[in-house]
Amino acid sequence: MTEKKALVIGASIIDLTGSPDEELIYGDSCNGKIHVSHGGVGRNIAENLCRLGISTDLMTALGNDLFGKKIQFDCSNIGINLRSSIIDDNLATSVYLLVNNHFGDIEFGISDTEVIRLIDKNYIEHNSKLISSFNTIILDTNLSKETLNFISETYADKTMFLDLVTRQKTHKVKDIIGRFYAIKPNIGEAEELTGIKFEQQEDLLRMRDYFLKAGTKKIYISIGKNGSFYADSEECGFVNAVSVIPKSTSGAGDSYTAGLVFAYLNQQSSAESAIFATGAAIASLLHGSAANPKLSENFIKEIITKYNICSQNI
Ligand SMILES: Nc1ncnc2c1ncn2[C@@H]1O[C@H](COP(=O)(O)OP(=O)(O)OP(=O)(O)O)[C@@H](O)[C@H]1O
Ligand SMILES: [Mg+2]
Repeated sequence: MTEKKALVIGASIIDLTGSPDEELIYGDSCNGKIHVSHGGVGRNIAENLCRLGISTDLMTALGNDLFGKKIQFDCSNIGINLRSSIIDDNLATSVYLLVNNHFGDIEFGISDTEVIRLIDKNYIEHNSKLISSFNTIILDTNLSKETLNFISETYADKTMFLDLVTRQKTHKVKDIIGRFYAIKPNIGEAEELTGIKFEQQEDLLRMRDYFLKAGTKKIYISIGKNGSFYADSEECGFVNAVSVIPKSTSGAGDSYTAGLVFAYLNQQSSAESAIFATGAAIASLLHGSAANPKLSENFIKEIITKYNICSQNI
């Protein structure tokens, strides 16, 4: 039986979201609300896994500052093990600063994630004993191209999951995508990786063929409110979209990836995994955060039943 523990290697970020009370005035300040929340795809996946009862290590890089201390404090409360993380005295904890307009749409975003570059080849080599003790490893593309390449090459015998994070970061893994057991791009990231534009169902099948040919075993492409597509060498199909009014959509994909890992550790098929992952994503959407604090296997099962989340092979 697969051991129920996982190592996530990726980013931890503090998201600061400013929403003005009235129309933004350029070059001036205004009153509004500033929301502080946890982000970083790796950290979000680790939180979801931990809440699902998986013994989870997060290898990330933080600054030795207020935000870094907050992340450490919260990880400790959740139960995420940070023993292999870097706490650096010189670089700041990653922050993503987002300014919305008064309609709630993004106006500007600035991200400072320099500290993640400290997770480099030397650091990975230095931690090889700990890394080797895990069979299941989850990476996010906030890591540098060199680090992604080194880990996926060195630990080729492990079951590796990859979350693609954003379209702009996909180039880092384009040449090594076949090294990953399972990948979770959203549709834009899948388009960027494959060069195939999504217009109809046939395009998803072409994307599947591209990834299977490269060597990837399990492909899960999330399509926002239109659900998701799953594929392996034997089956493929869709999991339906669910009609919910999200409190926030940010992080739904990260919860989806965590759901996939949990399902894998519980020997579920690709279709079952995509259903379970959708349940985890819906749990996030309903709570409006990257991980619903109520998350548990039973909570997801209730969501799956309540919203009739099911798969349809094609
Ligand atoms: N507006 C929505 N309504 C219903 N379900 C949604 C909605 N947005 C996302 N989902 C669910 O969450 C899953 C993952 O969402 P999405 O495709 O947006 O991932 P993503 O782009 O990787 O998100 P992020 O990286 O911001 O967390 C979808 O497959 C779908 O099941
Ligand atoms: Mg995503």
